Amino acid sequence: MKNDKIIKLLKTAYSAELESVQNYLANSVWLDGIRAREVSEALAADVTDELGHAQQIAQRLKQLDACPPGSMDLERSQKNLQPSKDPTDVRHVVEGSLAAERDAVYTYREIIEVCDGVDPVTQDLAVRILADEEKHRTLFEGFLKSLDRDKAA
Ligand SMILES: [Fe+2]
Ligand SMILES: [Fe+2]
Repeated sequence: MKNDKIIKLLKTAYSAELESVQNYLANSVWLDGIRAREVSEALAADVTDELGHAQQIAQRLKQLDACPPGSMDLERSQKNLQPSKDPTDVRHVVEGSLAAERDAVYTYREIIEVCDGVDPVTQDLAVRILADEEKHRTLFEGFLKSLDRDKAA
């Protein structure tokens, strides 16, 4: 079984998971100051989740007879999730993380759609990962709401 579109989307998702691992790791360590701890802890926990997703996708790629890309072949796109010069800029990290989670939700929904009636195993994997990404997205939406409320107060 070989479906180029599914494999391409899985590679995109794999790249994004590993990019999230790198940026969540850096930001979780770099963040500092009031209100930073909760966000920092959430990011540190997500590093494990996203790495787990990357591992599952790598396994699935292999099952589809495709090699998981090495570092030189990984796409990079999370410009707004680069650690800020100002380590107390919690909003920057929350907004960047939220954008990454929204992108992830979009990608897994696309995989689910493309796999429909074609590849139920990959589709099932994407459904399970999507559930995690929606959970992450909700968490960062909550952080953003509380930052907005603090600003308004
Ligand atoms: Fe993920
Ligand atoms: Fe996520």
